[in-house]
Amino acid sequence: MNFLANKKILLAITGGISAYKAVILCRLLKKANAHVQVVMSKAATEFVTPLTFQAISGNPVLTNIFDDSASNDAMAHIHLVRDCDLFVIAPATADCLAKIAHGFADDLISALVLARNPQKCPLLLAPAMNNQMWENQITQENIAKLATQNGVKISYPAAGSQACGEIGVGRLVEPEFILEEIAMTLAPKILANQKVVITAGSTFERIDSVRGITNLSSGKMGFAIAKAAKFLGGDVCLIHGGTQLENQQFTFALFDYLQIQRIKIQTAEQMYNEVMQNFHENSQKIFVSVAAVADYRPSKVVDFKLKKNNFKHSQNLNAISLIENPDILASVAALPENQRPFCVGFAAESENLHEYAKQKLTKKNIPLLVGNLIQDGFGGENNKIILFDKYNNIKELPPDSKDNLAIEILKYAKNMLENK
Ligand code: C5P
Repeated sequence: MNFLANKKILLAITGGISAYKAVILCRLLKKANAHVQVVMSKAATEFVTPLTFQAISGNPVLTNIFDDSASNDAMAHIHLVRDCDLFVIAPATADCLAKIAHGFADDLISALVLARNPQKCPLLLAPAMNNQMWENQITQENIAKLATQNGVKISYPAAGSQACGEIGVGRLVEPEFILEEIAMTLAPKILANQKVVITAGSTFERIDSVRGITNLSSGKMGFAIAKAAKFLGGDVCLIHGGTQLENQQFTFALFDYLQIQRIKIQTAEQMYNEVMQNFHENSQKIFVSVAAVADYRPSKVVDFKLKKNNFKHSQNLNAISLIENPDILASVAALPENQRPFCVGFAAESENLHEYAKQKLTKKNIPLLVGNLIQDGFGGENNKIILFDKYNNIKELPPDSKDNLAIEILKYAKNMLENK
């Protein structure tokens, strides 16, 4: 899902201590194969030298509206912002926000903001400052004014300890998050105004207060689909059980930051209830059922820890009696037509993939099924998938990262939805 490759990013740095984090952002952008042109305010150069950014971006850094020596362009304050896909100011100080909220153009960065065409070049502002400066009514008025402007997005500052020793809101958002926000801004919005509900991960069916029946689903594919749907402009609701995401804390924090609705459940019944709440109204939606849902659950759950003796003295010495869980995907697919979303199912098989996948497509009565062999994708970052649709089309996608495959699956679903 590299929406950054070959994109031209104009990265402006203004004078705050978090300017050092902009170095990391610049590096991350370059790693994602974006072209980065850095401009710095005079105050920013007191914190980090232009040479640092020049070395990392691979381009001369501009700092002065009147100095054309770095670029050989006497009109750099106009041209730079004409020739880029996105203008990012990180960190944006209180002073910078005040200037651009009031149309000043007395230095390179404020002139570039004023000279930009909002239709062609979005502006992403990542403010950072002392918490009192952030909370100051003037700053709040400035940011509120900027937030309503055409093509302006704000990466709101985070709370925590600050360089000045105080604690509060005003920290620059972590560069990794700004990177994701930039990628999201540049992604094509093919799912704009489209509600997308996704299930992911494993369910956990309780036996007693500590034991249960579960599975090893990593949740990676479902989380990748939720993120991809958000990047493509969808209104996303992710309902998930247990996951084995290696970077779970980061992923959860990123989802919160990107405002991806995330509902954590434990059991199949809870997942069923959360899913079903989404499909009452008469509107076109997409449901992607990636979760590995336990087909059965213990018929009796006790609220204490069973002792060995409890098992020994029970009637069924060697058995836990099970009852069937609802099939969430089949239930959604069986909704009346005016409530039913476009359903995408998953089939992870250890053998006979084509045969089982086609059977599932028919049995669950869904338009699209994503099949993969467990040995190709289970738990890993990559996958090898085959798309089976209700018109008997079979599309085998080349092996790829789950992030990239998520985009392909959603594009295929959207295409089917539009052409049905
Ligand atoms: O045939 P099977 O139930 O394994 O099909 C897997 C597909 O069905 C997946 O998309 C999975 O998320 C969904 N499923 C479900 N509820 C269940 C079992 C599976 O939604 N109880």
